[in-house]
Amino acid sequence: MKIFIPQDSISLALGADLISKKITQSGHEIIRNSSRGLHFLEVLIEVEIDGARHGFGPISSKDIDQLIANGFSKSHSKYLGIVDELPLLKKQNRLSFSRCGINAPLDYDVFLSLGGAQALAKAKSIGAQKTIDEIKISGLRGRGGAGFPAAIKWQTVKDVQSNQKYIICNADEGDSGNFADRAFMEGDPFGLIEAMAIAGFALGASVGYIYIRSEYPIAIKLLKAAIEIAKARGLLEDFDLQVFVGAGAYVCGEETALLESIEGKRGMVRAKPPIPALEGLFGKPTLVNNVLSFAAIAPIILNGGAHYAGFGTGRSLGTIPVQLSGNVKNGGYYELPFGMTLRELIYEIGGGVKSGREFGAVQIGGPLGAYFTSENLDLIFDYETLAQAGGILGHGSLVVFDDTIDFLKMARFAFEFCAHESCGKCTPCRIGSTRGVETMDRIIAGENQYELVDDLCETMKFGSLCALGGFTPYPVQSAIKAWRGKNV
Ligand SMILES: Cc1cc2nc3c(=O)[nH]c(=O)nc-3n(C[C@H](O)[C@H](O)[C@H](O)COP(=O)(O)O)c2cc1C
Ligand code: SF4
Repeated sequence: MKIFIPQDSISLALGADLISKKITQSGHEIIRNSSRGLHFLEVLIEVEIDGARHGFGPISSKDIDQLIANGFSKSHSKYLGIVDELPLLKKQNRLSFSRCGINAPLDYDVFLSLGGAQALAKAKSIGAQKTIDEIKISGLRGRGGAGFPAAIKWQTVKDVQSNQKYIICNADEGDSGNFADRAFMEGDPFGLIEAMAIAGFALGASVGYIYIRSEYPIAIKLLKAAIEIAKARGLLEDFDLQVFVGAGAYVCGEETALLESIEGKRGMVRAKPPIPALEGLFGKPTLVNNVLSFAAIAPIILNGGAHYAGFGTGRSLGTIPVQLSGNVKNGGYYELPFGMTLRELIYEIGGGVKSGREFGAVQIGGPLGAYFTSENLDLIFDYETLAQAGGILGHGSLVVFDDTIDFLKMARFAFEFCAHESCGKCTPCRIGSTRGVETMDRIIAGENQYELVDDLCETMKFGSLCALGGFTPYPVQSAIKAWRGKNV
């Protein structure tokens, strides 16, 4: 009997190591996999019997003695059934996350047996241009937030002549409510390495960096170990890949601030042009893509761009790991095609509001994303619909609140966050955010200062150099609108 116990950040925080220790002491063979993304069921223990994996969860260290004594019997109250049959896994289209949670993330032979390294081999056989053509056909848009077509960036870096080009994976993942980058890196580190090696081949770049936040120690450790294994096993033949650990400034997720950071400077946003694809790291052509953008590359190359484009809706093609958190029952990530409604995501996938109270709001796309209330629940989860509704899709997160949400405090918090994280380069963001906090304090105290906040928001929207200052108005104005809708 093989027993799988996850070792990703979430499961470890929930006591997976202690559980693993106790099961090891009882004499069972243990494999440390990663989470399958159903975080509300962690720690999810999987017991392989006759080739099928049976799940038990959520298991805490308090349950484990009884579970062992009970012989992992199906009669146990935490028995979930066969894991692959769990409805919330079956509903997904796991193209990017197909290997996550299946086995030990550093087992290279398992990676190979689950299709690993085949996309790199295929890219090399069809050639650089056809590789980029498939990405173009797939319609893949950058998953880091801006939604910029990936193929255009790849083509730009490929076409420019230079003695040195760089491939950078943006793994800074600073947005609150976002955890799919980390989940992918902890679940399939070789998958990320393979995708970056494909980019290196297609664009003619020999050096790559994974820029990752210091708050992700497990992913950092796994990636460093995976790079060594990948080198030894031939996945990184002519591509020098390194992990670069950032110090944890939110703005360093912005691609030009990230480049400054790698160059050893303070993380300040650069004015564009020049774009990084032409003059990026150390002034050389540089591809910067998010972890999830890279995570889509192998399925696109292996199955063809048209297969990927067969998922999704309108100009939002393919799948995205929707990250559900906050006051929702089924917190976790779910790889789904674009096109579901917010209602479906929150109720059918998320199971509804955890507290049992009425739904209050959902903030979509991280701390710079807008709040949507119950009248918006039939909106489609795609880039265009959310933009038209005054929000952003961002990195695919939904943070759910019940009806106790204090919208004015949320609006204040958005300004406060901006003031804290601002790089200070431009005035609307550096000064505006602090004036915004002060003005919100006056509103909270009962003064009618709404027009002033609106005015400030317009200045920040149109006068800021990057989206930190430019998007802060989204949460501020949507939260104020929601509050006034109820109170004025
Ligand atoms: C303030 C700020 C923070 C950002 N943080 C991240 C981040 O943590 N991860 C990320 O991939 N992109 C982040 N971005 C977007 C990047 O600037 C860039 O668009 C992205 O890395 C490009 O990759 P993609 O095309 O694959 O999305 C941020 C942008 C801004 C303005
Ligand atoms: S908007 Fe804010 S974070 Fe962005 S460049 Fe200006 S000061 Fe820096």
